[in-house]
Amino acid sequence: MSPPDVGPRLQTPRLLLRPPGPADLPATCAMNADPEVMRFFPAPMRPDEVELMLGRIDAHFARCGFGFWAVERRDNAAVIGLIGLVEVTFALPGRPCPPPAGARPPVEVGWRLVSSAWGQGFAREGATAALRFAFEGIALPEVLSFTVPANTRSWGLMERLGLRRDPAGGFEHPRLPVGHPLRPHLLYGIDRAGWSSAQGSAR
Ligand SMILES: CC(C)(COP(=O)(O)OP(=O)(O)OC[C@H]1O[C@@H](n2cnc3c(N)ncnc32)[C@H](O)[C@@H]1OP(=O)(O)O)[C@@H](O)C(=O)NCCC(=O)NCCS
Repeated sequence: MSPPDVGPRLQTPRLLLRPPGPADLPATCAMNADPEVMRFFPAPMRPDEVELMLGRIDAHFARCGFGFWAVERRDNAAVIGLIGLVEVTFALPGRPCPPPAGARPPVEVGWRLVSSAWGQGFAREGATAALRFAFEGIALPEVLSFTVPANTRSWGLMERLGLRRDPAGGFEHPRLPVGHPLRPHLLYGIDRAGWSSAQGSAR
């Protein structure tokens, strides 16, 4: 993993979002080993899997100029999770993979925080900064998000951020085997007009 000097840093009233670096490995391993945090993923992650994930995040920042930021509290410098934007590398309803010639792959906003940081608005604050970067910083046309129906905290956050459930409905996550209980997903999205109007109503 290279030092965390590649990619933008985003600041909010309580948080600094910055590309993760090697020093974030212990906190990220602890978060990804917690069964409560990983309840809606196939399994908690081992340290070697987390290290590979941080390597992929690093490569994504280098390739795209954005990725999953480490979320650091400004008051005590504690790393409380990951929030960010990532290109989707499989087909979604109405969004083929690979995308049509000249189009870029869809981009997903996602989040994972240590459980002690839930219920304090940190995810919303960090995700708002990520969406602002997506629409106002790099002018993406839309941002998607998806989760399993049981993950009410995650799709509740999507709705609080102004994302809307995709009219095409849900989809079966292609990275999970047919019949896996976590395979059915809800798909949400927001475009630039939706972002502007969500900002207007949040004022
Ligand atoms: C999904 C996840 C990021 C949501 O975190 P969260 O803390 O619930 O989300 P928010 O930041 O929107 O916080 C909302 C809560 O903070 C409360 N809150 C407290 N202070 C607040 C503030 N200053 N501003 C906004 N909300 C505040 C809200 O009332 C709300 O409380 P509630 O959950 O009791 O209704 C978190 O549950 C998580 O990391 N889960 C595990 C990983 C995961 O499943 N990721 C998604 C995979 S698709």
